Amino acid sequence: MATERTLSIIKPDATRRNLTGKINAKFEEAGLRIIAQKRIQLTKAQAGEFYAVHKERPFYDELCEFMASAPVVVQVLEGEGAIAKNREVMGATNPADAAPGTIRAEFAESVGENSVHGSDAPETAAEEISFYFSGLEIVG
Ligand code: CMP
Repeated sequence: MATERTLSIIKPDATRRNLTGKINAKFEEAGLRIIAQKRIQLTKAQAGEFYAVHKERPFYDELCEFMASAPVVVQVLEGEGAIAKNREVMGATNPADAAPGTIRAEFAESVGENSVHGSDAPETAAEEISFYFSGLEIVG
C-alpha cells in the first residue's frame, strides 16, 4: 500500500479536556506519523469555509460555532494507507456506533462534539492539508 498523508483535527471538546497527548498516542500506536502539527483558534468564518461542503446540512451552524469555541490542533498524519487507517483509529462519526478502542468510542461526547476530524479521500486530504499548512511547514 502507498504512503499517504491525511489531515487530522483534534476538536475543541478534546483540547478543552486536555486530551491531545492521549489522542496523539492512538495515532502513533497505529503507525501514523505526525509530520506537522499546530494549535490554532479558528474563527466561525474560517470553520465555515473549511466545512463548506456541509453548508446545506441542518447542523452546519452548530458545527461552525463548535469548531470556533476553543483551540483545535491541526495535523498532517503520514503512513501506509494513512487515510483509511486514520478513519479506522477515529471510529464512526457517531460515538454510539464507534468500535471499542477507537478515539471516538473512548473520548467523543456526541455526534457533533466527536473529538477528531479526518479526511475521507486522497483529493480531500490534499485540499484539507493545504487549507491549514504551507509546504514549508510539512517535514516528512
Ligand atoms: P467530521 O468528521 O469533522 O465531519 C463533519 C462533522 O459534522 C462531523 O465530524 C461532526 O462533528 C458533525 N456532524 C455530523 N453529523 C452531525 C449531526 N447529526 N449533528 C451535529 N453534528 C454533526
